Amino acid sequence: MFHLHTGEAIPTIGLGTFGSDKYGPNEIAEAVYGAIRSGYRLIDCASVYGNEDKVGAAIERAVKEGAVRRDELFINSKVWNDMHGRDDPMLSLAKTLKDLRVDYVDCFFVHWPFPNYHAPGCDGDSRNPDSVPFRTERFLATWREMERLYRLGLTRCLGMSNMTIPKLEAILPCCEVKPALIEMEMHPSFQQKELFDYCVACGIQPVGYSPIGSPSRPARDRAPEDVVDCEMPELVSIAKAHNVHPALVCLKWQVGRGSIPIPFSVKPEQYEANLRAATTDPLTEDEMRVMSTLDRGCRLIKGQVFLWPGANGWEDLWDLDGEITL
Ligand SMILES: NC(=O)c1ccc[n+]([C@@H]2O[C@H](COP(=O)([O-])OP(=O)(O)OC[C@H]3O[C@@H](n4cnc5c(N)ncnc54)[C@H](OP(=O)(O)O)[C@@H]3O)[C@@H](O)[C@H]2O)c1
Repeated sequence: MFHLHTGEAIPTIGLGTFGSDKYGPNEIAEAVYGAIRSGYRLIDCASVYGNEDKVGAAIERAVKEGAVRRDELFINSKVWNDMHGRDDPMLSLAKTLKDLRVDYVDCFFVHWPFPNYHAPGCDGDSRNPDSVPFRTERFLATWREMERLYRLGLTRCLGMSNMTIPKLEAILPCCEVKPALIEMEMHPSFQQKELFDYCVACGIQPVGYSPIGSPSRPARDRAPEDVVDCEMPELVSIAKAHNVHPALVCLKWQVGRGSIPIPFSVKPEQYEANLRAATTDPLTEDEMRVMSTLDRGCRLIKGQVFLWPGANGWEDLWDLDGEITL
């Protein structure tokens, strides 16, 4: 367990529920049910994953069977980009609560800092001409609504996702309710050390998405130069020393670092091994040091479909020169 600044405890690993356009809602719901029965207590959901109704039925089934109590679960969900602004996060959360069949979520995230919609499953070249760059005031209007949902007890804490240090520097001083969690892409070839350290220094718990390097990600998120984390020789050699699949070393590294990985899998042998990997047989200090040398700056989820007219390229979403790109 890790502890949040709110005083709440959170499991050291969770199950992802984004099917990467490859796995359907029923398969994912079955995995959620099986994973809860195997001991998972953190489930990472989002309205845009298009499966919260099925996932909710799976959670309800596990609770009704006595496998777990609702208050033992930590359930994440996220407001999608087309539901930013005043009132819309409330509408989004109302649907999520109904779909997930719960009275509250444990963390409600702003999924992306841009109110830029694109159709689920669209290809990587599609752009929405109505897209706009980040604006502090606009984001804060959404955050105020998130704070209201928190005060109403509909979420136990708040989260942000896909943020950068410049955006956080602009937003955090204005927050009445500080985020407890920040989701960011994180795997050995993309360690985000500065953002990770910044979050920790602010008392915000990092959650690492695509922790295995998202080997089943959709075609729109693939580029020829992408590093395959599980094939990095140093990582493979550490995996051999622990007699495990390299995927499990990615998870051990995150937990050892103090981050919460949320690997996706619908395969019982994989998700059970992932849970075991995060909770037993940690990497040695020396192995952690070797892992820290594997960063290749390899961002996989570039977010290019959220770009606005006039933007130069996906780098503009990530404020690479240290200032918010407008
Ligand atoms: N906040 C955000 O914007 C955001 C963005 C992306 C993802 N996420 C969250 O992060 C979760 C995970 O991300 P992800 O699915 O992109 O990447 P991931 O967890 O790194 O990769 C998942 C894939 O890894 C393989 N895998 C899992 N366990 C394995 C094991 N023990 N051994 C070998 N292979 C294994 C599976 O491949 P096969 O399918 O080939 O078996 C699985 O489909 C998502 O489900 C979602 O909840 C959040």
